[in-house]
Amino acid sequence: MKLFRIAANPSILHLVASKGITVAQGSELKLDEQSLITSQLIKKHAPAVDVADAAVVREKTAQLALTLDLARQGFEAGEPAATIVDRLAGRLHELRNQVNAAVWQQLIPLAQEHPVSAFLKQDPFTRWSFDKPRGYSGDASLLDIYYKHPSADEIVASSTELGREIYAYTSEAASSAAGRERRDILARTVDATAERVENAEVLAIACGHLREAELSRALAGKKLKRWVGLDQDPISVGIVNRDLAGTAVEAVDGSVKGILRRAYNLGTFDLVYASGLYDYLPRAVGIRLMQRAMEFVKPGGEFLFANFSDEITTDGYMETFMDWPLILRSADDMWDIINGSVDKNTVEAEVFYGTNRNIVYGVVRKHAE
Ligand SMILES: C[S@@+](CC[C@H](N)C(=O)[O-])C[C@H]1O[C@@H](n2cnc3c(N)ncnc32)[C@H](O)[C@@H]1O
Repeated sequence: MKLFRIAANPSILHLVASKGITVAQGSELKLDEQSLITSQLIKKHAPAVDVADAAVVREKTAQLALTLDLARQGFEAGEPAATIVDRLAGRLHELRNQVNAAVWQQLIPLAQEHPVSAFLKQDPFTRWSFDKPRGYSGDASLLDIYYKHPSADEIVASSTELGREIYAYTSEAASSAAGRERRDILARTVDATAERVENAEVLAIACGHLREAELSRALAGKKLKRWVGLDQDPISVGIVNRDLAGTAVEAVDGSVKGILRRAYNLGTFDLVYASGLYDYLPRAVGIRLMQRAMEFVKPGGEFLFANFSDEITTDGYMETFMDWPLILRSADDMWDIINGSVDKNTVEAEVFYGTNRNIVYGVVRKHAE
């Protein structure tokens, strides 16, 4: 198991010390290797099935070099950032689709090492994702950047003019808009649960900063008995407990591995959900997690999970310049996880896409007793 001590990262220490976030003494982030939240973990756990054909690698390397040079020339000539990044992301998406995984893995470092990355990393969203100040991909502060949350204002405002111009594009990309809609859908689902049952109890697995809580009418109206957030990252847990102190929310340290081992005695809930987690879970872990999560669901309650869909077109840009690989899924993949997890006679299930089809959702409802 990999251990990343928080104290090892000065920027994180500064964040914790200066922002009044309480992190238990000796708390350290433990990556449980159930969620593949770094490109190294993905490589370590990915089945090596593809072979990189040398001729294909040569041909695609040349095409990639042309694409990257064109982007760099665009920046040097002062072309609008949105035009450059849109063209670049589109071309990276095409290239990724044209080659097998082994070839694509060889192209990624070539893009990352190209001088154009110095322009792209001026975008606070791209830079935070690539640098990984918390030690892993897709941390909650990264999401704050594309949620346009006030806590990210400073990092955006302190970026260069070009960086803010690129951010104006990347934060409005379809996948970013879908992420913001996901947060709205979570808040609406919590509110609907509170309409359905009095004193509703809610569990968010991998809660991050639980920003959906700020949008929930049920939380503001004190309609919830409790809203428990669980996350592996003690800083995120500290931020939730600081920002939502005095509400029904309580965040706790915990991991997917702990849930799989039934290590937490949390009781049962009317709604359990996992947002921004299945994107890092291999199929077998996703199935086992859903089985355990359903043990937390009361009769008549539901489990909701979300996944970036295999229809996104930002995948090539994310995997190269943001070093942010995701496990993308289709509606069929979501059904496959549901069907592998639950007895269809005891639940009702549905799968649906968000507005722009960049995120797909699965909901499993337990029959009332
Ligand atoms: C992309 S963020 C999603 C945050 C939030 N749920 C949202 O939708 O805004 C992913 C979160 O999953 C957490 N996470 C990833 N792997 C985990 C694991 N194995 N156990 C517990 N939490 C995990 C990370 O710490 C991070 O806070």
